[in-house]
Amino acid sequence: MTPVAVAGAARLMPAVAGAVFAAHMAELEAAPQTAAQEATPRTAAQGAVPAAAQEAALSPGQAIVPPIDQESVAAGEADATRTITAKIEQIVNAAHTGGERPVRRDAHAKGHGCVKAEFSVVPDLSSELRQGVFAEPYVFSAWIRFSNGNGTPHDDHTGDGRGMAIKLTCVAGPKILDDEMDATTQDFVMINYPVFFVRNAADYVTFTELSGAGKAGEFFKSRPHEADISNAITSRTVDQVLEQRYFSMTPYLLGRRYMKFSAAPVACGSGAAIKPSTAPAPVGDPDYLRNRLKAVLGEKDACFDFAVQLQTDSATMPVEDPTIEWHEGKAPFVKVASIRIPRQQFDSAAQQMFCENLSLTPWHALATQRPAGGINRIRKIVYQAVSKLRHELNGAPRAEPTGNETFE
Ligand code: HEM
Repeated sequence: MTPVAVAGAARLMPAVAGAVFAAHMAELEAAPQTAAQEATPRTAAQGAVPAAAQEAALSPGQAIVPPIDQESVAAGEADATRTITAKIEQIVNAAHTGGERPVRRDAHAKGHGCVKAEFSVVPDLSSELRQGVFAEPYVFSAWIRFSNGNGTPHDDHTGDGRGMAIKLTCVAGPKILDDEMDATTQDFVMINYPVFFVRNAADYVTFTELSGAGKAGEFFKSRPHEADISNAITSRTVDQVLEQRYFSMTPYLLGRRYMKFSAAPVACGSGAAIKPSTAPAPVGDPDYLRNRLKAVLGEKDACFDFAVQLQTDSATMPVEDPTIEWHEGKAPFVKVASIRIPRQQFDSAAQQMFCENLSLTPWHALATQRPAGGINRIRKIVYQAVSKLRHELNGAPRAEPTGNETFE
């Protein structure tokens, strides 16, 4: 446990809860598989999860009361966030001074498509997992946007992170963004790599400044760990987006625990795991990722398992450093939902425009699933600012979808 986490835990937790947590941590250290055992599904005979279970999971007398105060806002983080936001807004404006439209996202600019999906929360989850949108078995109608990570659209053969951003619709309850409290959506934003390449806000400012001056190499020279991650993400091409595994990279709350989440491809029907494809990219066609998505979904459904990983050790699974992987051996992923992307056509001009005008952010969320850690705190401000800017410049209304949209 880091000194910050120890101090924070002691400050906020009642002594008894602290003792319970210490005992719990000792138990986890002695038996790292505990979390997996606790996640053993209830049997179907036990029936649907009662709504009161969510409250019970949050009550202070519960056996597992880990500190959810492992977040520490570094001095200067607010200034750093303002600097990053202003820089990104400047980049977006500068790229469109000639009136080029549409003004695209500053990151993940090239979308391969927004596809309709069903996100079915599985029954019989353990009480720890039955939080927020996972509280009850329920089939959410969802939109999923697949993308390349680059800030400008490139040939799909360019090495890059690939995004999978899920937007659940019909999510009841107040949301955490002040000006979107009434929104009925919750987003899960992922990339096909488990860790991010920047630790914190201060580093992100340095990275932005140096890369803006064409000197990103200088940032990485003194940060070999970050350099390895960045190289791993940006050197990868993929043969198609439906057989990749995607990760949140950054942590989130899940009730009184911290989690990361992931979507892994599975065979529809049998549910058998599909090993993420490492096949080389096909030759030719700069837009093969969209075209392959079109070809596959023109013929059949595609499926993913959506799973969460609960933090079991704050020292080796830090909340404030998304460059550190939470190893699955110590914190196994547990399936909480099935994703089905039904056979469909998705690339009409109207649907592409809808896709362009969506705003996906980790901060479209219920409080029980709030994003955590410094990189996520920056994203709260940046994503809203860039989304507002591009919608304004495009003359497009900013509105969350209902899930009932249809396109010609
Ligand atoms: C400080 C760090 C980061 C900054 C400044 C940043 C910035 C941005 C911006 C400006 C957008 C476009 C938002 C919009 O116009 O609606 C975006 C989209 C995106 N970001 Fe980040 N990002 C950061 C970290 C991350 C991380 C850690 C992930 C890991 C999952 C991520 C994944 C994505 C994805 C998948 C999209 C596309 C969402 C969509 O399909 O609309 N970003 N990011």
